[in-house]
Amino acid sequence: MRRKIIAGNWKMNKTPTEAIALINELKPLVATKDADVVFCVPFVSLIPAVEAVKGTDIAIGAQNMYFEESGAYTGEVSPGMLVDIGVKYVIIGHSERRQYFAETDETVNKKVIKAFEHGLTPIICVGESLTQREQGITIDFVRQQVKIAFLNVTADQAKNAVIAYEPIWAIGTGKVATTEQAEEVCSAIRMCISEIYDVATAAAIRIQYGGSVTAASAADLFSQKDIDGGLVGGASLKADFGKIVNYK
Ligand code: 13P
Repeated sequence: MRRKIIAGNWKMNKTPTEAIALINELKPLVATKDADVVFCVPFVSLIPAVEAVKGTDIAIGAQNMYFEESGAYTGEVSPGMLVDIGVKYVIIGHSERRQYFAETDETVNKKVIKAFEHGLTPIICVGESLTQREQGITIDFVRQQVKIAFLNVTADQAKNAVIAYEPIWAIGTGKVATTEQAEEVCSAIRMCISEIYDVATAAAIRIQYGGSVTAASAADLFSQKDIDGGLVGGASLKADFGKIVNYK
């Protein structure tokens, strides 16, 4: 039985002072024994966030990292730096990074490999645009993203990965995918993992849905066979996140 994982992607929101206030507000609301809960906060808030969740089951994640160990890469943050401060998860290849910061399937793959080398759990984002959905190529497109992301990743590593299926047209738009749409793609992703590796790896890997998840839509989405939780943007910055985590 896969354990649910519900992560908040705070994106570029909240100063460190505001972040700590929000974490303290959310702490009692997101307490649960039934799911892993992750707050993916901006880089500058990571250190105080790790401190603020001490003594709880909440884990802290970063929203990006670079794929080199160190060196002349002005402005970048290495996996070793994240591990050193107690970060456990890292979002890789979010569609906003692909769209605004020229991330590609190849850079995503390099980052996934590096994250595993350092013991970080990658939350690997995939998902189609509205045009791709309308052209009927959603599954083909997402399968390609998954296949490249997992190149040279071992089955043992893949078992511990998290994939977030986030249709781009559903992100920040208030237009949540239907449970059928979300389940169809998450199930296809699991099938793709089983083709790359084997049935056991596919059964172990956790697949989230992301895109306009709210307290109202969480229960239906997260009870689908192949949906193991969510990657939540806007609603993770509010008390509502507690209701999403405790969706049952
Ligand atoms: P919203 O929940 O705000 O649509 O954002 C989803 C997302 O991009 C999470 O990574």
